[in-house]
Amino acid sequence: MKIVILTGAGISAESGLGTFRDAGGLWEKYPLEQVATPEGFAANPALVHEFYNARRAQAAAAKPNAAHLALARLERTYPGEVLLVTQNVDDLHERGGSQTVWHMHGALNRATCAACGHKWPAPMQMQATDPCPACQAPATRPDIVWFGETPHFMNAIAQKLATCDLFVSIGTSGTVYPAAGFVHEAKRHRADTLELNLESSRAFDETRAGKATDIVPDWVNSLL
Ligand code: APR
Repeated sequence: MKIVILTGAGISAESGLGTFRDAGGLWEKYPLEQVATPEGFAANPALVHEFYNARRAQAAAAKPNAAHLALARLERTYPGEVLLVTQNVDDLHERGGSQTVWHMHGALNRATCAACGHKWPAPMQMQATDPCPACQAPATRPDIVWFGETPHFMNAIAQKLATCDLFVSIGTSGTVYPAAGFVHEAKRHRADTLELNLESSRAFDETRAGKATDIVPDWVNSLL
């Protein structure tokens, strides 16, 4: 069986990383227009760097949880094809042992230059005045896909959704497109769809409600 998995902030919640839309979530604390849009970066790059420096430090201090470890075990031992796509920008999937992780919204541990597009491993703390290692412009930014920008791997993800047998959504509210549309894409191609989340939505053939560290290992065990 070919499985495509999409994860969201909920899979890292029990590692202590904030989600976006739960009570007390990141978008309650920070206006997303100011810290997660190109316009916000142009207006106040220092504030944007402050926001991502804090998230980079939190992610570095966090540990992968049982859900991350279970997905890595699935990738290692499942006889079929497993593709892990994540909306998350932390590296807990990799640190939990997943080898292939498609970060469609970018990654905290990577930096890019707003002037020339060069990419490099992000230092723990970035400043707006840091010169780009390639073109020297003081235009360095986190390599994160902001609202209004195009997520990565979209064509490749569409191909995988068109040929998978099972699409599994874990720890995402399904409110941000294009990721929120993946379940409909998978259904259009007659894949089965499963949601593992604290809250259940109606779009899936099957939904299991619970904490990721409980229901993800249970699901992986049922497959192996
Ligand atoms: N176990 C399982 N699910 C959980 C847990 C948990 N311990 N804690 C929270 N959740 C669920 C919530 O019920 C919610 O449905 O995780 C989901 C988190 O939803 P959001 O905060 O909206 O995060 P996400 O869906 O990843 O956001 C998508 O929005 O702001 C953009 O780019 C950002 O990638 C992000 C995208």
